Amino acid sequence: MPMQTTNSLSSLVQSLGEFPPEQVIFGKSEAMQALRNRMDKVASANVPVLIQGESGTGKDIIARLIHGQSPWKSGPFVKVNCPAIPGTLLESELFGYEKGAFTGAYGTKPGRVEMAHRGTLFLDEISELDLALQSKLLQLLQDGQFCRIGAQEDKKVEVRVVCATNRKLEDEIENGTFRQDLFYRINVVNLRMPPLRERRGDIEGLVHYFLEYYNHKYNCKARPLSSELTAVLQKYHWPGNIRELENLMKRYVILGSEDVISNDLIARGEQEFINPEINLDGPISLKKVTRQATRELERKIILKVLQAHHWNRKQAARALSISYRALLYKIRDAGLPPNRVSRRHSEIPVGETVPSEAVAAD
Ligand SMILES: Nc1ncnc2c1ncn2[C@@H]1O[C@H](COP(=O)(O)OP(=O)(O)OP(=O)(O)O)[C@@H](O)[C@H]1O
Ligand SMILES: [Mg+2]
Repeated sequence: MPMQTTNSLSSLVQSLGEFPPEQVIFGKSEAMQALRNRMDKVASANVPVLIQGESGTGKDIIARLIHGQSPWKSGPFVKVNCPAIPGTLLESELFGYEKGAFTGAYGTKPGRVEMAHRGTLFLDEISELDLALQSKLLQLLQDGQFCRIGAQEDKKVEVRVVCATNRKLEDEIENGTFRQDLFYRINVVNLRMPPLRERRGDIEGLVHYFLEYYNHKYNCKARPLSSELTAVLQKYHWPGNIRELENLMKRYVILGSEDVISNDLIARGEQEFINPEINLDGPISLKKVTRQATRELERKIILKVLQAHHWNRKQAARALSISYRALLYKIRDAGLPPNRVSRRHSEIPVGETVPSEAVAAD
């Protein structure tokens, strides 16, 4: 069920600031409710927080929310995207420098640590810090002190440090690329962002939100997705998480056709079939992987045959030597759309629903 009725949508869009309203961010899944509880508790305490999660799960948003709920919310929120700054520059960017510290240091420059005084310092992709910078950060976390490059004396700041990573820092520690003592310091409270495939109950609400948001932003009138396609989205495994869903919805709104989404997802499915994702960290179940690959192959064959028969399901069933009922079951099971929606959704007059048999060829 969408989380908002159409009537209250304008309020939803108007309340958009830098990020979506909290009811959208947290949805209703258990994993996100637990995260919200933990976040609410930790936001007001001046302890470091480590946000871990796959790419596109919302680490950035959560870091900003923590700042917004903290006693230092009127202070600065300073983000450092560690991988975006080349290694040699990162130290001066973070800690600043004194005049003459190195060739080209014509004046003094405060670093981002200083800029975050009485606010939040958000270190994104913390695993990218080299070992020397990790030591400097450790000192900052231990006693609030740091040293500008070329300075004689340490400086003191009051800053709340929030770090994020999409890596498993425990592995980096084992490889010797991340300091264990720093890990303990930044990991006083850990927030784990669940991947979207672990909160499928929130997909429909997010779809609804992005539809309204981008319709409003681009002045478009894309219609709500059909229940069939919504079901497909709920089954998809979303390796790119919310960012992937958001981009898909953006394309749909701009191009106005469900085929865009279906074709996109089909292409992604094919790609992963050729290149199956196997997690080498843990035990591999050959049976499970093979079963998945077989299902994927079956899905691909069905799709090809359906396309070849212009989605005439009776003909496709005959071509596949299975019963019509069996094909309908397999289509549903594989998460394929039951028929090809060929009309542009924006062309369907308001109030008219898409009769599934009208677009199916059989
Ligand atoms: N819970 C959410 N509700 C609505 N939109 C979200 C949510 N989480 C993330 N998004 C959207 O998804 C996109 C990616 O989010 P964000 O940048 O916070 O992810 P991230 O975990 O920091 O990713 P990365 O590891 O790649 O930096 C953004 O456009 C954001 O607005
Ligand atoms: Mg991020």
